[in-house]
Amino acid sequence: METIFSGIQPSGIPTIGNYIGAMKQFIELQNSYNCYFCIVDEHAITVPQDPLKLRQQTRGLAALYLAVGLDPEKATIFIQSEVSAHAEAAWIIQCNTTIGELERMTQFKDKSQKNGRTGVSAGLLTYPPLMVGDIVLYNANLVPVGDDQKQHLELTRDFVERFNKRYGQANQEILVLPEVKIAEQGGRVMSLQDPTSKMSKSDSNAKGFISMLEEPNIIRKKIKSAVTDSTGIIEYDPENKPGISNLLNIFSASTGRPVDELVEAYAGKGYGDFKSDLAEAVVDLLTPIQERYHALLASDELDDILDKGAEQARLVANKTLQRMKNAIGLGRKPRKRT
Ligand code: TYM
Repeated sequence: METIFSGIQPSGIPTIGNYIGAMKQFIELQNSYNCYFCIVDEHAITVPQDPLKLRQQTRGLAALYLAVGLDPEKATIFIQSEVSAHAEAAWIIQCNTTIGELERMTQFKDKSQKNGRTGVSAGLLTYPPLMVGDIVLYNANLVPVGDDQKQHLELTRDFVERFNKRYGQANQEILVLPEVKIAEQGGRVMSLQDPTSKMSKSDSNAKGFISMLEEPNIIRKKIKSAVTDSTGIIEYDPENKPGISNLLNIFSASTGRPVDELVEAYAGKGYGDFKSDLAEAVVDLLTPIQERYHALLASDELDDILDKGAEQARLVANKTLQRMKNAIGLGRKPRKRT
């Protein structure tokens, strides 16, 4: 069975963009892969976080993983900072990655342009190597993510090829080369207010995103005020009609109905009808998830699952980390296991 790794930052409440681009894929893939799904709290601290809130969001994201349907019997669910191999591997990876490669990352460029180089943490620059570590530690073959993570996956592949070439013995690869998996539809859910930019949980305009824990009436309001265009014709044309096309994608991902079928069903109808049906579809999708989320948060079951997940994750991660250390000559002598 091939292996999957993916993670989400507990840097806020996940949006339906995170659900459609990432979680939805996780649920489908858990049946046919050996899966590791991580709450990447070490990634979240690249920007300042309130400690109390970070803890709540970390546990909350774990509850959401389960609430959307991830099954701890099928997938290992764990918190990144509870497996110390991630931080150790990140150091080794940083030392085998150039500053030039990291400065080219769009996310770093965007954030450092906004806040200036002296206004962002060094971690924001060196964060992709931490992500590379997450993936390689579990020998992942496949990484399901949204479109915005593609560049980080390319960096991961470049790193693995370089590391294996530099330190591997003939025919013996140290690290597994992963492939990226982006949802065919919904790999890039756009903002409801600016359909040319990505929906993001850190958007300063809260009307731009729908959080997975949003109340039904707020969901209805946000969808009603979503930016479309003045033609009033429901058709899928992301280039010329990004607003309605984005809503069609969200509708399709929320209900499983193909976009073509939706376009046909709403031929001749106005944006108003379409938006109110879409709002109900999103409410119907999120309500049962929210109910399970609240029940899980109040239970001890969640912590037991996370304890077990961290234990399982450590076993695999420590082995890979030792393989990396052995290959590059860290320590007095090569060791089989830690
Ligand atoms: P993060 O926490 O920003 O987002 C989590 C996942 O959600 C996807 N996503 C979206 N997909 C579609 N439309 C959107 N608007 C949208 N917004 C977010 C992201 O692509 C991602 O898949 N660096 C990662 C977390 C990470 C990771 C990893 C992922 C750390 N280590 C190892 C995979 C493997 C991040 O910041 O995702």
